[in-house]
Amino acid sequence: MRRLSIGLIGGGFMGRAHALAFRAAAAVFSLPRAPYFEMVADATDELARATAANLGFARATGDWRSLAADSAVDLVDITTPNLLHKPMALAAIAAGKHVYCEKPLAPRAGDARAMADAAEAAGVKTFVGFNYLKNPMAALARDIVRSGEIGEVVNFRGIHAEDYMADPATPFSWRLDPASGPGALGDLGSHLIAMARFLVGDIVSVCGQLETVVTERPVRAGHPETRAIDQDDQARAIVRFANGAGGVIEASWVAAGRQMQLAYEITGSRGALAFTQERMNELKLYTTGQAPGRDGFKTITAGPDHPPYGDFCPAPGHQLGFNDMKTIEARDVIEALAGTRDAWPDFREAWQVQRVIDAVMTSAAEQQWIEITDG
Ligand SMILES: NC(=O)c1ccc[n+]([C@@H]2O[C@H](COP(=O)([O-])OP(=O)(O)OC[C@H]3O[C@@H](n4cnc5c(N)ncnc54)[C@H](O)[C@@H]3O)[C@@H](O)[C@H]2O)c1
Repeated sequence: MRRLSIGLIGGGFMGRAHALAFRAAAAVFSLPRAPYFEMVADATDELARATAANLGFARATGDWRSLAADSAVDLVDITTPNLLHKPMALAAIAAGKHVYCEKPLAPRAGDARAMADAAEAAGVKTFVGFNYLKNPMAALARDIVRSGEIGEVVNFRGIHAEDYMADPATPFSWRLDPASGPGALGDLGSHLIAMARFLVGDIVSVCGQLETVVTERPVRAGHPETRAIDQDDQARAIVRFANGAGGVIEASWVAAGRQMQLAYEITGSRGALAFTQERMNELKLYTTGQAPGRDGFKTITAGPDHPPYGDFCPAPGHQLGFNDMKTIEARDVIEALAGTRDAWPDFREAWQVQRVIDAVMTSAAEQQWIEITDG
């Protein structure tokens, strides 16, 4: 079988998740190409060597540019801080490589657009890590919406709330650097907007609000010196979809007690859907017209009837996890590169997500509704 040689840039949280996902995908699915861990780059030679040893890469470098240009690499996989995605992706694209990049694709929509344009001009395939779209329950929700089972969608109420920035002692990091783009809106809101677009469609106007709750943080862990922070800790927007539905989206990384609340409720004219990532193997479905006294949501539990759950486990209710969504994503990358499925979500889709993010930022700054126009 032809192999797919992967060059991974970044060996942190997501670097490890991607490496695990490629390994698991090869075990779980019957893949058209065998992933091969060709090379890893990290911030220094030493870090890269440690990551290569931990994750099983053949070669290591502290110079990501040499990885992006390396003739043995087919796919450049970028799992670095947001600010680095654009130069890394553009270098890989210039070298004719396919690119798989973490979200948010870039600090601002203009950057994301330049990346999508460059990839399309070069004829290379691109992928973005909106892994929550790969949950079989998300596919089921979309099928239910599209089938009309809950009628016309009239509202999308979504939130992505976590609490990893709630403690004011959490120090400054790349996530709080304004050059990286917005704060919670980019980090978490990007996942939620991708989900809203997946389930309901294009967002055409927004009225946004951004708030910094923790206005100064230690420059480093445990250091007495602090620096001012103006990244959004909380973001919210009223939105209008192209199909006429209304909605509300909210992102927070200071939501005490919430560790992974990517949740939505879709209200239709004849029913509703409700989901939270904290119970990612369940989708709640409500349809109107139930018997009095028996009215309510029912819970659909993930199982082999919700592909590709059955590739992981033959028994329903045994549950998939976060890394399994990444594994499905890795399968999709490999199959798209072999030409047996569409490359999606790609840089163009990620640009659409970032246009919504930019519009929320502009709306919050100008205190008015912003239309998201074509092009
Ligand atoms: N899809 C998801 O669910 C999800 C979850 C977490 C993070 N992310 C995204 O993944 C990306 C990385 O986040 P993370 O949490 O893994 O960060 P992290 O800080 O854990 O890892 C970043 C890695 O990049 C490396 N790096 C930094 N500068 C570099 C350079 N110049 N050259 C090469 N490597 C360099 C670091 O050494 C580190 O190994 C971000 O874009 C983030 O938004 C996505």
